[in-house]
Amino acid sequence: MGSMLKNALKDVFSKEEIEKVYSSFDVIGDIIIIKIPEELDGKKEIIAKILINKIKTVKTVFQQISSVQGEYRTRRLCFLTGINKSITEYREHGCIFKVDVLKTYFSPRLSTERLRVSKLIRNNEIIVNMFAGIGTYSIILAKKNPDCIVYSIDSNPYANELCIINSKLNKVQDRVIPILGDARTIVSTQLKGKATRVLMPLPEQAAEFIDSAIMALENNKGIIHYFAHIKAKSKLNALEEGKLNCHNIFKCYQYKIICGRVIREVGPRIYQLIFDLEII
Ligand SMILES: C[S@@+](CC[C@H](N)C(=O)[O-])C[C@H]1O[C@@H](n2cnc3c(N)ncnc32)[C@H](O)[C@@H]1O
Repeated sequence: MGSMLKNALKDVFSKEEIEKVYSSFDVIGDIIIIKIPEELDGKKEIIAKILINKIKTVKTVFQQISSVQGEYRTRRLCFLTGINKSITEYREHGCIFKVDVLKTYFSPRLSTERLRVSKLIRNNEIIVNMFAGIGTYSIILAKKNPDCIVYSIDSNPYANELCIINSKLNKVQDRVIPILGDARTIVSTQLKGKATRVLMPLPEQAAEFIDSAIMALENNKGIIHYFAHIKAKSKLNALEEGKLNCHNIFKCYQYKIICGRVIREVGPRIYQLIFDLEII
């Protein structure tokens, strides 16, 4: 897609300008979100119009003007062209999701990881997703594993509302249970000892919630999917640094790492990692 954009810009931009255009952007349903370098700010409408003309399914183009931020992990967007709307429908692994790209977190870049985790679930699991967002992980896990139950916590009321809608859209509303609130409070008041598995997809802060994740596990034993952002010199280094991070974070518990993976680079020398851990 990125090279498509660069090719399409050949007639209107100089070679130097084309080199500055970022080669990737997010397509979420019929919405595109693109970052535009400061030097090309005066030409952002041209870039947006070319994108909407080239990709026929796209109705809206936004410029991303901040990184993911705040408790709800949302990004600030500036409308560029098309229909000015932030709600779309996104399809992944046979599921359909209503997404609000302004009011909730959503990334199509975690698609492979969601499928990988869905294949690890065993029969009759009870899963607690501490940071469920609009329900992407929870719903894919439930859809692919017809006898599991997923408690889906999120503190963002818009995300929780969409998780309720998406559970119904995918006909898993009897097994995906959206709960609005702070994960720490919800676990200690409603979900102590219930889970065989806990998901922690809040890489910036998951480390602060480890005690709650373990509290959610039945007899404090089971599987935790721990997400982290790790600073490292290289991808290879990131995995080693990530293991050290796990050791520090989980040192009070008996655990073994089943799998550690670098999911993607999220900034200069900052990597997003996932560790599948067994608390024993
Ligand atoms: C990085 S997003 C992940 C969302 C979803 N799992 C996904 O992959 O699309 C993290 C989510 O955690 C929620 N969140 C942040 N702090 C929280 C807390 N203390 N308790 C519950 N949810 C929280 C945010 O609102 C956000 O939706």
